[in-house]
Amino acid sequence: MCGIIGIVGNQPVAMRLVDALKRLEYRGYDSAGIATLVDNQIARSRAEGKLVNLENRLAAEPLSGAIGIGHTRWATHGAPTERNAHPHATEQVAIVHNGIIENFAELRTELEAEGVKFQSDTDTETVAQLVARNIRSGDAPVEAVRKVLGRLRGAFALAFLFTGENEMLVAARRGSPLAIGYGEGEMFLGSDAIALAPFTDKISYLEDGDWAVLTRDSVTVYDEGNHPVTRVVQQSSGAAYVVNKGNYRHFMEKEVYEQPEVISRTLAHYLDFSSSSIRTDVNNIDWSKINRMAMSACGTAYYAATIGKYWMERYARLPVEIDIASEFRYREMPLSTDTLALFVSQSGETADTLASLRYCRSQGLPIAAVVNVRESTIARESDIVLPTLAGPEIGVASTKAFTCQLSVLASLALSAAKARGTITPAEEKELVDQLGNLSGVLHEALKLAPKVEAICRDLMNVKDVLYLGRGTSYPLALEGALKLKEISYIHAEGYAAGELKHGPIALIDETMPVIVIAPFDRLYEKTVSNMQEVAARGGRIILITDKEGAKHANVDAHSVLIMPDVPEFISPLVYALPIQMLAYYTAVFMGTDVDQPRNLAKSVTVE
Ligand code: M6R
Repeated sequence: MCGIIGIVGNQPVAMRLVDALKRLEYRGYDSAGIATLVDNQIARSRAEGKLVNLENRLAAEPLSGAIGIGHTRWATHGAPTERNAHPHATEQVAIVHNGIIENFAELRTELEAEGVKFQSDTDTETVAQLVARNIRSGDAPVEAVRKVLGRLRGAFALAFLFTGENEMLVAARRGSPLAIGYGEGEMFLGSDAIALAPFTDKISYLEDGDWAVLTRDSVTVYDEGNHPVTRVVQQSSGAAYVVNKGNYRHFMEKEVYEQPEVISRTLAHYLDFSSSSIRTDVNNIDWSKINRMAMSACGTAYYAATIGKYWMERYARLPVEIDIASEFRYREMPLSTDTLALFVSQSGETADTLASLRYCRSQGLPIAAVVNVRESTIARESDIVLPTLAGPEIGVASTKAFTCQLSVLASLALSAAKARGTITPAEEKELVDQLGNLSGVLHEALKLAPKVEAICRDLMNVKDVLYLGRGTSYPLALEGALKLKEISYIHAEGYAAGELKHGPIALIDETMPVIVIAPFDRLYEKTVSNMQEVAARGGRIILITDKEGAKHANVDAHSVLIMPDVPEFISPLVYALPIQMLAYYTAVFMGTDVDQPRNLAKSVTVE
């Protein structure tokens, strides 16, 4: 949930650390800090809030030193203040940490009983104080860390910088990801390959329980049992990632507009448009052995998976259980080995999703994952990786990753349907062609931006919004509500349209906008009935539909967004765009921090 970076270098590191932190800011932006060694002593610079505050501070008071560590924080323990910003340091050691030390309270009590004075409210400082205590007792730094690692419970990635050790950093990982970068006469560590991209493309990933000693010329990795181990050094694609906004105001806007291209790219990986058929060689799933599926994910990825469930059940006639990962991991669901466990995650690092994956692994299930970051932990721990080719998604609000997840799930449902004989060759051709036509339709949908903007000028003034939909438009309604809350801070709820009369209808009055997602499909009439219930109570309806839908609505809607005509199968991919734009323009008008909304982080690696 935080981003960490470390450099054992041969040139000044301060601004290089900051540069890497810029690429990690998606992991948290409550505060940032770096520590270097100046004349063999630890020197720190930290600032509350965005990284730019740290940059300004360093411009005014530069830090020298050719070795250092850096951190960008998403607060878990302790308020997002400078006092709680990393690195945490004692006279002997400075550390940066991503994750949670679960037994920090008992460790802190133990240290305080010995007279140690803490300078912060964080769980992290406990680790720094424990290492410092061991060093004061005569342990060499590496030994001091090794002993402390054995005492920690929880999930963490840690980096240590020591007083007097100009050429050595120590790193450790349990649960949270950590990569090592190999340079020429210098070494790096970081939360992911993107952070290391400006420095090197030679990367190895620490495995769970590993810890490592980095010098300028060497990296020695130890496993949980403290035995030296070798971790493969791979060529990373991270260096190819261009992380800039181009001509767009925000990353989110850029990512919304990238969708026609990245969806096409993703679909082309799974489907052969020249023969209108499904590529059977891209997943090694033996569908003859699968009788059901168990899906789990968090947030937007969970809504994508929910739409995937509708497709899998309808087209492949395969029953799907679906859970929010934070519930699944503790629900101890009885599972049989004819169940394919499927996880969906943009980052591939979400702690709850990863824990659910590990639960399924312990039950002997085959594991598949739809992931955007190919080098992520979830990808590495899965038997079958189904990549989304969205490219890096920087905006905290997921947009293109969501529609690329839908693209993979749609392709997977067709692949299962073909293997299980639940669609005919003619239906395969028809459905693949529908996906093949998406790009043009998506471009059409994006042209609705000015109309969406006009609606948002109104929406920005309301306090609550209701989203309604049926069938695959129901999870889309949930996603629309999440998007709006997340970046505009307007309270929004998504409901299955048929559920309205069971309670939420009590909320309807003339101040309450109700956004209805209703393509003219087999469920349209039902949704219209629910919409009329809203109209009868004075609700302000914003209808997202197509030409036929608008013609048959029979209701005095406040606004109508007329979408291109699309077949039912692909409608979630197309209707996702206006709901993203509704959230985006509302947030822009309200002047919120669109790409880095308050209290959030892109990658949630804590429970
Ligand atoms: O990286 P993941 O896809 O596993 O992340 C899951 C959620 O944290 C994520 O989708 C979150 O809900 C987004 N901020 C929504 O826009």
